[in-house]
Amino acid sequence: MKRDCVIGIDLGTTSVKVVATDESGKIIRQTTQFYEPMYGKNGEVEQDPEIWWNSTVIAIRQISSSLPDYVICAVGLTGQMHGSVVLDDRGRSIRPALLWNDQRAEEQAKRMRQELGQETINRLTGNQVVTGFTAPKLMWLKDEEPDVFKRIEHVLLPKDYIRYKLTLSLDTDVNDASGTLLFDVSHRKWSSHMMEYVGLKSSSLPSVLECLDSSGTILPNIANDLGLSERTIVIAGAGDQAAAAVGMCILDEGRCNISLGTSGVIFTPVNAFHEENQGQLHQFCFVTKGTWSLMGVMLSAAASIKWWNDLTNQIEGTEDRTIPKHTPLLFLPYLSGERTPHLDMLARGAFIGLHRTHSLPHLSRAILEGVSFALRDSYEILLKVHIQLDQFRVTGGGANNTEWMNILSNVFRSLMNRVDHVEGAAYGAAVLAALSIGMIPNMEAYKQIWKHHKLTTFEPNQAEEDYYMDLYEIFKDGYRSLQDLNRRLQHISR
Ligand code: XUL
Repeated sequence: MKRDCVIGIDLGTTSVKVVATDESGKIIRQTTQFYEPMYGKNGEVEQDPEIWWNSTVIAIRQISSSLPDYVICAVGLTGQMHGSVVLDDRGRSIRPALLWNDQRAEEQAKRMRQELGQETINRLTGNQVVTGFTAPKLMWLKDEEPDVFKRIEHVLLPKDYIRYKLTLSLDTDVNDASGTLLFDVSHRKWSSHMMEYVGLKSSSLPSVLECLDSSGTILPNIANDLGLSERTIVIAGAGDQAAAAVGMCILDEGRCNISLGTSGVIFTPVNAFHEENQGQLHQFCFVTKGTWSLMGVMLSAAASIKWWNDLTNQIEGTEDRTIPKHTPLLFLPYLSGERTPHLDMLARGAFIGLHRTHSLPHLSRAILEGVSFALRDSYEILLKVHIQLDQFRVTGGGANNTEWMNILSNVFRSLMNRVDHVEGAAYGAAVLAALSIGMIPNMEAYKQIWKHHKLTTFEPNQAEEDYYMDLYEIFKDGYRSLQDLNRRLQHISR
């Protein structure tokens, strides 16, 4: 007799990853298909939804054909958020999707802030205007490609295009919808006011499901083609950060995930919508009804390290070297502008306090500290909205740097737990699918499954904490002090 399993699909920016998990929550197969976005000269980042679909088809076929002893009962979807997939009246993609990191709608984002006012936008959507969110990009299409805009019958988020191809359902989930700026996050429904402002028909947005809800079964011809059963259910799923949090078993208020990837993310579930956050952190619906999440995103975390390493070969292997400590030198990590808390794509990086006695290791250390301070900025907002965090889990490539883990623990004045092995967002999507069909009975059962992970704990040390608090006070003033200089610099750039 065949055994049951589920698959999770993570439609990322550079690849689609598919994982299969069995009843015990263990990954039994995984595969990745790679593709590239198209980059333009003026911050454009686009992708053709057909490439996503073709890659996903290959990946699913690989998984299904390698599991002859299993029935794939359900599919969980996750992926890059904020993209704008636009379909015509026959369900065909009209143009490549503008991705989450596309910066061309800067003007439209500015106009939105001016015309509606930040307070109103925050009241309607629970968030601030981020250029890469969906609504400013749709406004860009309306301004710059009016013929395309007129033909839009349906707007979908990237992973929901895969759902559409699998089931013909035009659905999304409350978490991914939260990142569109068209969604009333506190009431978990589309905002008619925001839709009208952008000029969208209400029928053009997908139906919104809770993350564990089902979108129905796969179309029979597609199921056959993919080697799946016609009874395979497609689950609503969630955006990649929420799914990654599920994969890390960050499910309850008080728990926090810090990801030290290319960008740095601090993510925590909360039991109530926090109006007082005023959009400073992204506030999105979370994966169970009546829960939300607060998330800060700083754009250059490991990206700062990579930049430095490419230039100097200095950071890799820091663990084996004694880097001088307590040198008053600051690094501002705004190498690609910044999201949280400054929301300023024109912010720029800097070393502050350089002295002739500084050597490359001092600068390397300042980079690790600067990125940790930038993450602390988001944590400060959490503290201000009275979120008490008792557990930090740290993931991403940066977590392997022990010195960085020590610095982070001192900057946050908290224990930091490094997780031995991270399965990621695709695994989180598979878990959502398993929970939805009862293959994993409930969250408590999942927490038991997750317990096999080994954690390495890093503890703060009083003297270091005090030093870092003093340094952080100066860091906080760094961005504003240089804002005008950076603007002036950019005016003379040719
Ligand atoms: C979340 C975000 C990224 C993208 C791409 O707000 O911008 O996580 O979803 O991964």
